Amino acid sequence: MRRLAAGNWKMNGVSASLDEIRALLALHSDPACEMLICPPATLLAPLAVLAAGTALSVGGQDCHQNASGAHTGDISAAMLKDAGAGSVILGHSERRADHGETDQLVAQKALAAREAGLVAVICLGETEGERDAGRTLDVIGAQLAGSVPDGASGANTVIAYEPVWAIGTGRVPTLDQIAEVHDFISRSLNARFGTAAGAIRLLYGGSVKPSNAAEIFEVPHVHGALVGGASLKASDFGTIVAALSAA
Ligand code: PGA
Repeated sequence: MRRLAAGNWKMNGVSASLDEIRALLALHSDPACEMLICPPATLLAPLAVLAAGTALSVGGQDCHQNASGAHTGDISAAMLKDAGAGSVILGHSERRADHGETDQLVAQKALAAREAGLVAVICLGETEGERDAGRTLDVIGAQLAGSVPDGASGANTVIAYEPVWAIGTGRVPTLDQIAEVHDFISRSLNARFGTAAGAIRLLYGGSVKPSNAAEIFEVPHVHGALVGGASLKASDFGTIVAALSAA
């Protein structure tokens, strides 16, 4: 399985930020380790030009569930593909919280992404209250069942486990807590999708930094990371990619 270091730039980055990508490409070229950067949509096309022929691929941060139509401000999966994306993040907790995205909507978007030939990077994660109440696996199980459409395989789906309370906070779960959830996701995918599930990559996300990446990548069923803040600087993200290459 090809490991995956994915960067989510969120609403950060203008043309000058592409210098970070040039620096990143100068640092890394391990073909066994895929790098993915999901910039704001305005940077997709120029980033795709820079990434062509390298170990870097580019992705969107969201897409609309419909193929086209009267949806002002939205972007379809086919438009992302046309701009050079190979994948799209879906169901990020910030989309779920800021835009009221439900599991059902995320599943519809995942199908739209698949239809357009994009890999769906589907995000799941419990809130702090849910973890404190001992409901983590119930929440993850329900999100997994509701957000991942039938027919998921390694070719069309990546799952990112991102505890909401770990995103942008500098707090990370213990390695045992990450292991428990990744093992649960792996078993759930196997039960539902059988052999096709074996190739679905599972990323951990939430305050992954150069200082903690190596130990997180040792956790069973962790095949890479989805990185927010630390993906904005080539030096930080490059260190995380190097840790993944070495894992
Ligand atoms: P963070 O964000 O690495 O800044 O915590 C992760 C994410 O939201 O994907």
